[in-house]
Amino acid sequence: MEEVIKDLLTKKRYDHSMGVAVMAKELAQRLGADPEKAYLAGVVHDIAKELNPSELYDYCERNGIEIGLIEKHNPQLLHAPAGARMLRSYGICDNDIENAVRYHTVGREGMSLLERIIYLADMLEPSRSFDGVEQLRELCSRDFEAAFLMALKRSIEWNLEKGCLIHEGTLRAWNDRLLAGGESK
Ligand SMILES: [Fe+2]
Ligand SMILES: [Fe+2]
Repeated sequence: MEEVIKDLLTKKRYDHSMGVAVMAKELAQRLGADPEKAYLAGVVHDIAKELNPSELYDYCERNGIEIGLIEKHNPQLLHAPAGARMLRSYGICDNDIENAVRYHTVGREGMSLLERIIYLADMLEPSRSFDGVEQLRELCSRDFEAAFLMALKRSIEWNLEKGCLIHEGTLRAWNDRLLAGGESK
């Protein structure tokens, strides 16, 4: 799949994907998830990222993927569910990997450990840079669940600050993790 991704993505996005794969594998080893699955999910998580909005829209319509209100306004979000569906054509038929790809951008209620690992690795792999990334990486090295909750918070805050729509999946993930015992700050 690394070769497939290399062909499909720009160099920058390929490097990002490999960064997610390596970080996801390390997190899986530390947290007791399956490291090989985590690596593969990281490699393929942005497989549909180079499709433009109308290609994504068409792909989702052709494959019966639901296009929600937020996705209608921001079709780029569809690279996650479209990518998850594409995996089957490469012989990857694993529900947990599929869901990790499907929900890596917005999250959802009841995310599996693998889904949470890919979400956080996507935000924190070494090529990512944003205000506070080092603090979040440091938190992740000590307390994965607290870092995951903080990542959701950052995502919600960014959207609020920019006046953007907030996907209900992210809010549901936030509420779900708080109820699961995360800390509210
Ligand atoms: Fe993505
Ligand atoms: Fe990504």
